[in-house]
Amino acid sequence: MFSIFSVVYGLLLLCLLFTYFFHNLFLAGKVPKNLPWVGIKNQPLGWLRALAYTIPTLPEVLLDVHKQVGQPHLSAEPYPSLLVDANVEFPVQEPSCERLQLDYTLPFMTIISRPLYHRLLIKILTLKGGSVVAEIYDELQQTCDHELGLDTEQWKSVCVYDSMQHIVLTASNRMIIGPPLCRNKRYLTTICRYAQLIFPIGVLVRSFPLFVRPVVGRVFGIPALYLFAQYKRYNLPVIKQHLANIDHAAVDANHEFTPLNTFLTWYIEEARKTPQAREITKPETISSMLMAVNSAAVFSGTIIGTYILFNILASDPEHGTIENLRNEIERVLADANGEWSKATLAKMYRLDSVLRETLRFDPLDALTLQRKAMKDVVTEDGLLLERGTNVAISSYTIHRDEENYPSAEVFDPFRFSRATDERSSRDSSSSITPSETYLPFGHGRHACPGRWFARMKLKLLVAYIFMNYDIQPVAPKPRGFWAATFYLPPTKARIMVRRRAKNA
Ligand code: HEM
Repeated sequence: MFSIFSVVYGLLLLCLLFTYFFHNLFLAGKVPKNLPWVGIKNQPLGWLRALAYTIPTLPEVLLDVHKQVGQPHLSAEPYPSLLVDANVEFPVQEPSCERLQLDYTLPFMTIISRPLYHRLLIKILTLKGGSVVAEIYDELQQTCDHELGLDTEQWKSVCVYDSMQHIVLTASNRMIIGPPLCRNKRYLTTICRYAQLIFPIGVLVRSFPLFVRPVVGRVFGIPALYLFAQYKRYNLPVIKQHLANIDHAAVDANHEFTPLNTFLTWYIEEARKTPQAREITKPETISSMLMAVNSAAVFSGTIIGTYILFNILASDPEHGTIENLRNEIERVLADANGEWSKATLAKMYRLDSVLRETLRFDPLDALTLQRKAMKDVVTEDGLLLERGTNVAISSYTIHRDEENYPSAEVFDPFRFSRATDERSSRDSSSSITPSETYLPFGHGRHACPGRWFARMKLKLLVAYIFMNYDIQPVAPKPRGFWAATFYLPPTKARIMVRRRAKNA
């Protein structure tokens, strides 16, 4: 029996394919004329054939091009095989704001203007994110115990992706809104479905020409808005109560109210200091904001969490990855008197290396720094990027370049911690420090504002799982698959886990 969601997904996919080609047919002329185009031949519909060839073989095409053109090269979207010349001074600073077409799926989002939204997120997540380490660990403990079991005798078969999704959702919502909602299964399922929907809807709507988007956007946005209405029913009362408590406490010193240490609390505190306070602290707007953070956190965390687990298991026979990590975690935790904190996590540099290598090796997307030219720009090489041209950098090839990473095709869990271990140098960068050769979180002003939180959550997750569970070896490593520029994880792969007796 098909669920309503699989039918909607199926239809969305069909429409997506249709509109993608339809729109591109009319858009083709807008792509810079003198751009080299990989694989194009002088034949009827040559560009369409080149595109059809590129999409299923994207990683090879990108690597091939990287060899020929050098780095960094820009790709003009939606044609990943169209290349802007190398070494351009990055010409456009604005991100592709309408990438997800949130106007049609996330109500009230337009009120929060982008620079303000970004500034608030950076400030809140950087300053406060580290203060919830113990709470997130506590939540991970409860959810992992439930998902992976407590039996120290029998092995349990677990679908890694599904379990990761539930664990990441719960842990993220412990930070975002706190208990009891962060444990409400219906609330979490609604968030998850919504987050799954907005991305394809965004791509779909974006593939239509501008003038029809207000119509198709409203039609295709309906399933997302329906889910959003369900979601709001759970969290609006909590938000309203929270706002009322804050206001009450402000005028009545006897009103006992200790706000939870959550994103909701931090957001209200910071948003109320801004000139737009009245608008951006309306309950509906706050609800949208919490959904925006959820959507950004849930999939990235689930996907990277899945990869990191398989990478640790697959690299274990050669590198003793699990034993190495357990030794480090035990030692650092003993020095910290068993207390999980930001400082404790920072000392776990081998764990950081495994995360950093996973982000290098298994990308969420082959492209990054997706930007839009806000005005006509001529690159140093004389290439005209017309206003509205979307460009991106291929982080995939930068991460697979032997000059940047020797044996780049191999997952080496301790690639980034070896120098520190050998005391030959102290690598002060970390899994979240962007550089020209390390771009999983983007770079510059618009680099991912949630990366501190993402690192904290993923390090705690790996630490909890491997300190408390044995997992049977998995060989070969289940592989992800490419869907255009996205690298999707193996969603059905299973592992056998058993609670470790000594930590039970
Ligand atoms: C492993 C997990 C994550 C990865 C790999 C990741 C990666 C990225 C990347 C590549 C970008 C684009 C940056 C650019 O264009 O320069 C981005 C943007 C963003 N991320 Fe993340 N992210 C992760 C987790 C999170 C989390 C947990 C949150 C929220 C709590 C978050 C919130 C955002 C937001 C709001 C943006 C948009 C920034 C803007 O457009 O200005 N991300 N992320």
